[in-house]
Amino acid sequence: MMRTGLGTESPPGTPSFHPTDGPAAERLEAVQQENQALGRELLRCYEQLNLVFDITENIATLRDPDTIRPALLRRFGEMLSVGALLIDQDGTCVTADPGDSAGQRLQLDPARVHASLAREIELVRQTLHARVPSSDPLMRTALAEAHVLLGALRQPEGPAAVIIALRHGGEVPFDSGDILATESVLGYGGHILANAVMVRHLQQTAVETVRALANAIDAKDHYTSGHSERVGWLARLTGAALGLPEPQLQILEWAGILHDVGKIGVSDEILNNPGALTPAQFNEMKRHPRLSYEVLKPVARLGPALDAVLYHHENWDGSGYPEGLHGEQIPLFARIIRVADTFDALTSTRAYRAGFTWEEALAVLAKEAGRTTDPHVTRAFLAALERFRRDRPAQFRARFAHAITGATPATAVGAGAPAHSTAALPKLGPLTPSGGTP
Ligand SMILES: [Fe+2]
Repeated sequence: MMRTGLGTESPPGTPSFHPTDGPAAERLEAVQQENQALGRELLRCYEQLNLVFDITENIATLRDPDTIRPALLRRFGEMLSVGALLIDQDGTCVTADPGDSAGQRLQLDPARVHASLAREIELVRQTLHARVPSSDPLMRTALAEAHVLLGALRQPEGPAAVIIALRHGGEVPFDSGDILATESVLGYGGHILANAVMVRHLQQTAVETVRALANAIDAKDHYTSGHSERVGWLARLTGAALGLPEPQLQILEWAGILHDVGKIGVSDEILNNPGALTPAQFNEMKRHPRLSYEVLKPVARLGPALDAVLYHHENWDGSGYPEGLHGEQIPLFARIIRVADTFDALTSTRAYRAGFTWEEALAVLAKEAGRTTDPHVTRAFLAALERFRRDRPAQFRARFAHAITGATPATAVGAGAPAHSTAALPKLGPLTPSGGTP
């Protein structure tokens, strides 16, 4: 059966009116036009729905809130074929792309758009509903007849930002479909933004906790102040030279910063003993990798760093501690930290000796390869350090001033540490009885 719109129904192929019937033909034409309009509307809704999925899917892969806002704005503008601006809670105006802003596309000043729409912006911010503003004469003049649509982007902190879509006055005005699509995109976008902000806060908290722990250690063992940060940096440098991806480099750096956190459980007399340690004292010192492991174990995010911390005093030849692992039995991160730790310990002034120069430390490190340290990791470390010296001479001098000149670095020596020069350096001795630096 075919519905003709004339109040009667007839089998397909059976015309129920004559084409020359005036009023019937007019009504048929009207119905056909209405159907075509509905078809176009349906197609547009389908395309918008596709775009909503596409936008949310792509935006959801982003992690940085500062990237999410402009990306959302840009895709929103693409979806409605409009220029788009974002007015933040403090009135700051953000565009998706300076070269493609709504202001430039419509030759409008964003500040003027903001000023003209202040009342409407506040309304959308309070209700969180998208709307086409009533066109009062002031706004119409200011925006040169542009069609305007506003939508609220919920923000995790503070009031919602308002996104303003602007379309040329000569184009199709915004309708209820545009409002619906706007609310969908900005609703999903707001959730994604909130999650990204929460993750960033958690990461910042984790980093601050790591630094606080490292500072606690360095404050206790004042002869090695700054050692933890330097080992973290050197470990990251070596990991990058070995081709590790960024997420692993981050864990490696944290493991480097925290490797000695267990020294919190070692007595001050042992840590700051200017003479040789007795066997009993050395045994107590050897507890610190396991203490570090135990301290960090409850922090779920540091899980991948735990083995590196526990085994950072294992030696390549099996003579280290706590378990006497050897070769590739020792986790890679622990082998990297072993090299970085050894180098920084050599170039730092310790309670029991002055620091070695850069060249002396490199010579010792080269000799240790295959005994206490992994030869492959040591080669990567030396190559990375040499590249750093060649490519960034100013940063190299700032970071390794103490090892280049023999001068004591301000951050590496606490009160009471002896000043020294290369001329006053003691004869190079072996590393500690375990073959490592305590
Ligand atoms: Fe250690």
